[in-house]
Amino acid sequence: MFVNFRRVSKCQLLTTGLLLCTLMVCWEELDHHVVSHIRSFTYRYLVDRYDFDTLPQPGAIISYPSYLINHPRKCGGGRDRERGLADILLLLFVKSSPENREQRQAIRNTWGNESFARSELGASVTVLFALGVHHDAHERASVQAALLQEDWEHQDLIQQDFLDTFHNLTRKLILQFQWAHEHCHWACFLMSADDDVFVHMPNLVRYLRQLQGTPSKAPKDVWVGHVYRGSPPVRRKGNKYYVPPDLYPWVSYPDYTAGAGYVVSGDVAAKIYRAILVLNSSLHIDDVFMGMCAKAMGVAPRGNVYFSGQAKALRHSCVYGHMITSHGHAAADMRSLWRATTDPGVKRQSGGLYCSMMRLLLLCRPYFQNTYPCAAAFA
Ligand SMILES: *[C@@H]1O[C@H](CO)[C@@H](O)[C@H](O)[C@H]1NC(C)=O
Ligand SMILES: *[C@@H]1O[C@H](CO)[C@@H](O)[C@H](O)[C@H]1NC(C)=O
Ligand SMILES: *[C@@H]1O[C@H](CO)[C@@H](O)[C@H](O)[C@H]1NC(C)=O
Repeated sequence: MFVNFRRVSKCQLLTTGLLLCTLMVCWEELDHHVVSHIRSFTYRYLVDRYDFDTLPQPGAIISYPSYLINHPRKCGGGRDRERGLADILLLLFVKSSPENREQRQAIRNTWGNESFARSELGASVTVLFALGVHHDAHERASVQAALLQEDWEHQDLIQQDFLDTFHNLTRKLILQFQWAHEHCHWACFLMSADDDVFVHMPNLVRYLRQLQGTPSKAPKDVWVGHVYRGSPPVRRKGNKYYVPPDLYPWVSYPDYTAGAGYVVSGDVAAKIYRAILVLNSSLHIDDVFMGMCAKAMGVAPRGNVYFSGQAKALRHSCVYGHMITSHGHAAADMRSLWRATTDPGVKRQSGGLYCSMMRLLLLCRPYFQNTYPCAAAFA
């Protein structure tokens, strides 16, 4: 009896210990997504069997909408390029909508400021806004007039002739890769970001240079962001992300990066563009479609904990030294975060033991919080 009891309690101890360990290790898996995570990981191995090339594609080469606003020479090109003056580190497309003028202005004044990137970071970054036409027929003319005025002032809008709606997001994705192919295929990196995303430009540039290694070498096979692995398509009608089986018949999506913000190297951008030319682009969820293109071309995404999906960065100087993107910022928020993160005092503070401890305390909580995962504290 006594021996038995001892065995049981040892066993219990061991189990409790193991459970605790699992809890610690899988911290961020234990958030409210737990069910969908388990399900999608079960499906995930199936993805490799999908062959997106075999989708019906009678009209293979899609016809592109025409440009309403364009700046073909924004990336240098022509003479500049011949003389080697057009070495673009990053072409950054912000997915915007005609009416979001305030967001665009906040981005221009903060992280999207090309002169800041040039003078403070020594990097040539081109920031452009990708747009369709206003969805409301009654307001379209006045919104378009305002857009033309805005573009006259800033020369940074790229607009194609399609309705700017949620269900047309894949057209906006195609716009970006098409434009990059036509007018900026020499850029080292291409990034796509939403207009409510904050990009920590100094950290991003530093990270891209790390990826690049030698400055003169073209980076290869880079696709980095917040990775969703084997998520299942939403089959509940009425949900914003509902996808009927005839649009996407398989049980899980290929791995893809959250459309909120991701980066690809020039060679990957070219591959995606080649896939866009032949794949059926009727799936309106743009980041998933991008994942299908990448899958068809044999490109796999790489995760970076400081690229957010839905996550918002914590307002703390110890996080500012590492953050790359943060999601869900209105214009005023964007400006105040930019002021906070570019404050010269922050840089001095963000290294060291104190900040390592602070990040652990801030990011590793036993409940879901909409910010960077616990793993980011160790990155
Ligand atoms: C693309 O797929 C959709 C839905 O599966 C289908 O209705 C459409 O005909 C396809 N288009 C082409 C060009 O194959
Ligand atoms: C962009 O940054 C430069 C250099 O830091 C600064 O002089 C300029 O005022 C900024 N422009 C905008 C629109 O904020
Ligand atoms: C997408 O844009 C096209 C071209 O403007 C338009 O005909 C179509 O209705 C739009 N689709 C949606 C779902 O808004």
